[in-house]
Amino acid sequence: MTSNKALWGGRFEQQTETSLQAFGASLPFDRRLWYCDILGSKAHAHMLGAQGIIPATDAQEIADGLDAIAAQIEAGDFVFDLVDEDIHMSIERALTAAIGDAGRRLHTGRSRNDQVATDFRLFCKAQAEALALRVNELRGVLIEVACDHPSVVMPGYTHLQKAQPLLFAHHLLAYYWMLARDFKRLVAAQDAADELPLGSAALAGTSYPLNRRQVADELGFAAVTANSLDAVSNRDFALDLLYACSVTMLHLSRLCEELILWSSSEFGFITLSDAYSTGSSIMPQKKNPDFAELVRGKTGRVFGDLQALLVTLKGLPLAYNKDMQEDKEGVFDAVDTLEASLRAVAGMLATMQVNAETMRAGALGGFMAATDLADFLVAKGMPFRDAHEVVGRIVLQAEKTGRTLQSFSLAELQAFSDVFDAEALAAIDIDKVVARRTTAGGTAPVQVAEQLNQARRQLAADTHLLQGVASATA
Ligand code: ARG
Repeated sequence: MTSNKALWGGRFEQQTETSLQAFGASLPFDRRLWYCDILGSKAHAHMLGAQGIIPATDAQEIADGLDAIAAQIEAGDFVFDLVDEDIHMSIERALTAAIGDAGRRLHTGRSRNDQVATDFRLFCKAQAEALALRVNELRGVLIEVACDHPSVVMPGYTHLQKAQPLLFAHHLLAYYWMLARDFKRLVAAQDAADELPLGSAALAGTSYPLNRRQVADELGFAAVTANSLDAVSNRDFALDLLYACSVTMLHLSRLCEELILWSSSEFGFITLSDAYSTGSSIMPQKKNPDFAELVRGKTGRVFGDLQALLVTLKGLPLAYNKDMQEDKEGVFDAVDTLEASLRAVAGMLATMQVNAETMRAGALGGFMAATDLADFLVAKGMPFRDAHEVVGRIVLQAEKTGRTLQSFSLAELQAFSDVFDAEALAAIDIDKVVARRTTAGGTAPVQVAEQLNQARRQLAADTHLLQGVASATA
């Protein structure tokens, strides 16, 4: 059958208005689902044959025909013709052109509504898994960089004002834990997509004796959907994936913001590799953190993708509405953007130079040991408010004279209070200030080492969790 008539053309007396064909078509973007569509159609055909709904020989011809189309698409030889509204029509038409009548039996007991829901779930499952793996690669890079710099001290900030010194490894690991939660969200999104809609037909189910469990097993779905109306209307799984992508992008964006700040000459904490920076067309001296900025910038797009689908779905009556065709492009955009961003950030971190001395100098400035100096006086019996006042006066003088707290001699400290003794100097040694934060999860080296072990164990377990679930539908 080579006619240009739409596959649903029987009850129509006129062709679709030409100028609207492109408007209504999803083929230009949903062709990306071709592999999922062929997997779903093969499973459906196998089941139709096994149930005796179509002759077994037809089922075989359909499966072989679909394999041939897959090979053609893979080789780039398949013509995607806009006369076909979407990838489902496109493949069915090509199948029928190739094998004739058997091809016309494929759509028995099926609607594009349950077909597209199935394809899209297969796609989202595979993408969630692939992204979860990429997130784990970045978690691995964070662990490695933290591990390579176990004793580098840096200033920690609140309100972007120097607050208390930290281990650089501790700061990096903060992002590890964000990504560990992102991994969980992606796995949850994969789970949310893990039910088979096929067999729901247009909205009410079908009178053919389908075996939905067989199709679910062939496609690797954990369950079949419980309600045919819900099955064809549900896009929660896509929202879950978009949300998981959004939060992951949010975390990458915050990390990139810090890389941008740290690589500025004002901070100088890190130097990004040339391979992960760009120059200026006019200013020869410039080396810009473009890729970090782009990750930060692209985060807004991904949030937009989530918002767009939420709004698309909010007023839809059951069951399928054509509005739902708008579900795909945002998901494609979000998963591609996140994938590229994860790669970029992993590369930036793995290749950056860590300027330990600059970080340390930064940690000595800003009077970040002031709390510890006050605590020293409290330990000697002085009421905290008095200690706060004494140390406040020392800070004022240090600030006026451009000095660090660590540069004060014991005699100079004693001029402010005779409670100071030789141990006071040790109290404000920057490494000791860090080493004193020994609460679980704190920045002391012993705790950060423990945290690194915990992170390593968790990453190994999470990576193990994903192994064996490999699906190749991306
Ligand atoms: N291209 C459509 C989509 O992506 C496929 C489902 C069409 N179903 C229908 N009843 N028009 O949503």
